[in-house]
Amino acid sequence: MKDANSPHAAHEHQRDSFGSSFGVLVALAGSAVGLGNLWRFPYLVGENGGAAFILIYLGFVLLVGVPIMMSEFIIGRRSQANARGAFKKLAPGSLWFVSGTLAVLCCLLILSFYSVVGGWGIEYLFKAFRFDFTRGGDSAGLSTLFSDFASSTWRPLVCHTVFLLLSGLIVILGVKNGIEKFSKVMMPVLFLIIIVIAIRSLTLPGAGAGIDYLFHPDWSKVTANTYLAALGQAFFSLSLGSGMVITYGSYVSKKENITAISAKTAAADTLFALIAGCAIMPAVFAFGISPGEGPGLVFITLPHIFSQLPLGGFIAILFFVALLLAALTSSISLLEVIAAFCIEEFKMKRFWAVVLTLFVLWVLGCLCSLSQGVLADWKIFGRNFFDLFDFLSANVLMLLGGLVAVVFVGWKLGRTVIHDELTNSGTLKIPVWLLDTLLFLIRFLAPAAIAVIAIFQWV
Ligand code: PFF
Repeated sequence: MKDANSPHAAHEHQRDSFGSSFGVLVALAGSAVGLGNLWRFPYLVGENGGAAFILIYLGFVLLVGVPIMMSEFIIGRRSQANARGAFKKLAPGSLWFVSGTLAVLCCLLILSFYSVVGGWGIEYLFKAFRFDFTRGGDSAGLSTLFSDFASSTWRPLVCHTVFLLLSGLIVILGVKNGIEKFSKVMMPVLFLIIIVIAIRSLTLPGAGAGIDYLFHPDWSKVTANTYLAALGQAFFSLSLGSGMVITYGSYVSKKENITAISAKTAAADTLFALIAGCAIMPAVFAFGISPGEGPGLVFITLPHIFSQLPLGGFIAILFFVALLLAALTSSISLLEVIAAFCIEEFKMKRFWAVVLTLFVLWVLGCLCSLSQGVLADWKIFGRNFFDLFDFLSANVLMLLGGLVAVVFVGWKLGRTVIHDELTNSGTLKIPVWLLDTLLFLIRFLAPAAIAVIAIFQWV
């Protein structure tokens, strides 16, 4: 067996890497913080009864999400390879690598519809700059505006194309010069913007009802579906099971503390989701709107609020800038998983790997975009392309990828390797109780939680 840590393996090809600890953190947090926080989390909270959903979500992040993230980190950093190559290096001659191939497929599917929604964000930013939402638009009008736009043929396709090109430009520049530099500037800007919007929202008369909704649990609303939605959201929001943490982890130096980075990434992502909740829910309640509007929350309900809010025109611009930045820092991570796979498995140049990936994504994304309009009747297993890709990635492939990662690390690599990676070969001190707890979560709790949820979903 070729040792993944041997100098020979390290020099097989010149690998890019992150330049600093802060760079690693912002890149990982950039991947985690995305449409999942600004678009998916608020509407899931709204549909699932508020605070109780948030508490269940927090439990899943801590007990299941962080252990999976650490496992994927271990796989990536130990192998210094892309999502598929990582399994081939760590378990040569076995079939574990199939999981890596599925992770690449998962990223293709996610990015196909993610770039369509990112494109909608570009269109709405454009509208915000024209102060379209300050002209007293009523809710029904804004709803028609959104559905007319999303179901039309050309404009969403143009926006989708622009979004993909922007992501491609960053990834072509590489890990240190593209992804890390972009995330270092944009993540602080993103946090700043969402804090400003949250302050505006929290100081509205009547905002208290929204805070109550976010922080006082109503357990009577909790059903089995709440647990499914919360675990699915934890996976999506932390970018788990998609090969992202394996790929980014492979660019991380052997000196970084995996436990600390994983915990900080999960904390940043959760904090951002909560602040986004504070930016959105108090305003929703202050204007007496129902919080359970579903996926249209960001594109229909919020513009309605912006149209009535003092300084709403500027808040709208800030909000859609934030949405676009959040979407971009995540989409570059999805693109990097696929690009790294093409570069290392097929020995392609980064430029051509990104161009090829963008082309495939463009075609798949067109199908997703058109499935909101002219292709609405093209259904596979009762779902249009957009919903099918969303379902297959978030409800099937990510769960499977996360499950394989924890089982692989917990049972195949085992305690010694985990200890070695978490302590950086003995140079970092990690208390025995913490190691034992993590081992228990990785070996038993995380796989059991995923298996139960998967069985509920699929059976
Ligand atoms: N975590 C991202 C979000 O919340 O929007 C979505 C995502 C990015 C999922 C990257 C998976 C991934 F690999």
